[in-house]
Amino acid sequence: MYICFMRIDIITVSPGLLESPFNHSIIQRAKNKGLIDIHIHDLREYGLGNYRQIDDTQFGGGAGMVLMIKPIATCIDQLLSERTYDEVIYMTPDAKTLNQSTCNTLSLKENILILTGHYKGVDQRIRDKYITKEISIGDYVLTGGELAAAVLVDSVVRLIPGVIGDETSALTDSFQDNLLSPPVYTRPSNYEGMKVPEVLLSGNFPKIEEWRSDKAYERTQQIRPDLLND
Ligand code: ADE
Repeated sequence: MYICFMRIDIITVSPGLLESPFNHSIIQRAKNKGLIDIHIHDLREYGLGNYRQIDDTQFGGGAGMVLMIKPIATCIDQLLSERTYDEVIYMTPDAKTLNQSTCNTLSLKENILILTGHYKGVDQRIRDKYITKEISIGDYVLTGGELAAAVLVDSVVRLIPGVIGDETSALTDSFQDNLLSPPVYTRPSNYEGMKVPEVLLSGNFPKIEEWRSDKAYERTQQIRPDLLND
């Protein structure tokens, strides 16, 4: 019996982009088990006037539209009147990059509100007034924050106890100890002459652990030496 429960609210201009990621596989099962509850809010419903306007040109000139304050503020104020949020997160490329440590921390929260940007992003005053944490998923620019939000939710939700079958497996993932994962193998033990390392078939678990930790270190040194300096 798991008692952990997390509610995630996401504000977006493209709700359809978030349908598929949350309605399949592990996230879907976590919802069915009642471990998480995800609510998507269509910013357009808070738009201004007959055309439900949500964006406008930027002051000072320049290409690209900016999401206006009022529709976002109305939506966030309504949600804040209903419950307290542990974090109000804005997905944006001009922020610190998401890492496993942030995922671990967020997985312990109860209520998270995520705002996704579009076009040139949101009016800075929204960030100043409401946002408690800004997250980028990497040094590249997506068409909007929805896919970034899906990445964030996926990486956080899988850490909640009961969400993935083998709970220990989340703890032995790459990055949990600042190391990449060691190589893994399954049947057959010999594929066209390519053999699985002998130690993995030995049944000697201390030796297997030692081999895995050596390989993890080796791989990290080759591919991501920066992790070893962190
Ligand atoms: N929106 C657009 N690009 C993004 C990124 N790299 N991370 C988070 N949100 C984004």
